[in-house]
Amino acid sequence: MTSRDKPFARALTLNFPQLGRAIAASGDETVLQSARRHGVRIVGACGGRGTCGACMVHIRDGEIEADHADPAAPSPAAPANRKKWVRACRVRARSDCTVEVAPRSLAPVARADVAGDGDADRLRLDAAVASREVHLAEATLTDNVADIDRVIRALAVPIDAPGTPSIGTVDLVAARQLPQTLRDAAWSLRLCLRGSELIDVAPPGSRVLGLAVDLGTTNAAGFLVDLQSGAQLASFGLENPQVAWGADLVSRIDYAVSGPAGAADELRIAAVAAINALAHDLCAASGAKATEIVDVVVCGNTAMHHLLLGLPVRQLGRAPFVAAVRDAMDVKAREFGLGVSPGAYVHVTPNVGGFVGGDHVAALLATESHWRDAATSLVMDIGTNTEISLIHDGVFLSASSPSGPALEGGHISCGMRAAAGAIEQVGLDDGHVTVRTIGGKTPVGLCGSGVLDALATLYRAGIVDRRGRIQAPHRDVGAQDGERFAVLAPGVHFTQADVRAVQLAKAAIRTAVDLLLADAGVEAPAIGRFIIAGAFGAYIDIDSAVAIGMFPDLPRERFVQVGNAAGAGVRQMLASTAARSRARQLAAGCRYVEMSTRAQFQRAFIHNLGFH
Ligand code: FES
Repeated sequence: MTSRDKPFARALTLNFPQLGRAIAASGDETVLQSARRHGVRIVGACGGRGTCGACMVHIRDGEIEADHADPAAPSPAAPANRKKWVRACRVRARSDCTVEVAPRSLAPVARADVAGDGDADRLRLDAAVASREVHLAEATLTDNVADIDRVIRALAVPIDAPGTPSIGTVDLVAARQLPQTLRDAAWSLRLCLRGSELIDVAPPGSRVLGLAVDLGTTNAAGFLVDLQSGAQLASFGLENPQVAWGADLVSRIDYAVSGPAGAADELRIAAVAAINALAHDLCAASGAKATEIVDVVVCGNTAMHHLLLGLPVRQLGRAPFVAAVRDAMDVKAREFGLGVSPGAYVHVTPNVGGFVGGDHVAALLATESHWRDAATSLVMDIGTNTEISLIHDGVFLSASSPSGPALEGGHISCGMRAAAGAIEQVGLDDGHVTVRTIGGKTPVGLCGSGVLDALATLYRAGIVDRRGRIQAPHRDVGAQDGERFAVLAPGVHFTQADVRAVQLAKAAIRTAVDLLLADAGVEAPAIGRFIIAGAFGAYIDIDSAVAIGMFPDLPRERFVQVGNAAGAGVRQMLASTAARSRARQLAAGCRYVEMSTRAQFQRAFIHNLGFH
């Protein structure tokens, strides 16, 4: 029996002073697993396999035991080396510990902003849930009809508008709550109806809220909307906790299909936990209660969609990559385990095919004003998986490209979230590499926009050659353990492996663009609007993206960076049933194109790996 197998008699505590958190830990878990279980957001791009080096922590106080597979960790036999950074996924607490998370290992707070945020950020309402306040006559011996009949009777009286909703069915939990709520509130109620179903009863004056969620592979963004005014009350982002099972969709599908019994359910529960955490945090920020949320809309790629709904993913992960369900679905939130109003529904947005899911449909919906009038447009939502639609003469060709997390700073040796000290811009001055950091702070790592800039600058400077090899000797180039790296700032390096990771990402994206153009029978110069969506896409430098060949070299005014368009689209669907209908039309109108099994894909991909 190893020491790891021994039962631990007392619970351990991990303190994270920089986050103001203290969590209960188990000696059976790694520090990363304990942190994840309690929502302490440490980056773990390889799913805890110990290979990415993203989860670095410093044990300031306390004893740990290292998995011997981790060369960066202290020897299991030695006392904890408190000077060292160790991988959180490779060490287990053996006493109460004080843990410092490396700045670049703090999971990113997603930029949930969308084009148009600000004063005009009020949505046009045509919501699926209608609310009414009713004031009823108290029950008496001579008027002793059932409570629900009393409500129906009150609604039948035309009060202020034609089309007054009528009740056809009653949610069971709403029915259970009705008598007490009615009497506690002196025979007045706020009702919420979805179509003809009474889904929620609450005292008058209760808020009527909606939650829109863009469940991305890496990050989840949430938006809390007042469904009576259309105002957005708060937006917030967090890392998708499913990252603990792998940074990419294929790893998660593999785990769901081939992992231990209940593996798929672990992923489903993690996705639900993310939505619940968003609901909780957004409501806390707005002085609201999660039970005041009476409608939820979630968009995500097809794998996120299936994992959230508990649909099988085996057939989705292998050719011909068939989804179980394509159209939108409406499911009771309580069936998911969401802590919102028990009668609320979750509207899960429609998919296109393959991994092109409802998040891309939401992006198409939100960007329609940009692409509607051009003969040829391209809409690209850049993320861990990049979804692309080419719209040419009214035909929509859609594809998905596994671009990986590199462009967002994941799997990059010095990658970090967009926080103070992150290099966001890299340039050249008199042949020397120069950097600009967020907040003008001392450089501590590299965020997504800096990653792209770094490669473009190193290529322009001749430090990286056409095939992507770092050249030496050069004053800004060093080497360690046989691997070359470019020095961007003291302690912040861009390694040969980093260059390769970005090359793979940019080649995957450009190849998908090229093949969609070929399918449509047009050349790149025909693209009149090149619309770049996604939180990362809002911050990239177009010149850098063109310089490394990720985007075709078009006149710069044709590029439009719209931010989190999926977030904007899912909010539209929360506010409007017409938007939901339009999204279903768009999804049904897109023709999914599978790239990975084509012979041309490999040829074009290899061509696009280099710089031309
Ligand atoms: S090295 Fe710990 S999650 Fe990858």
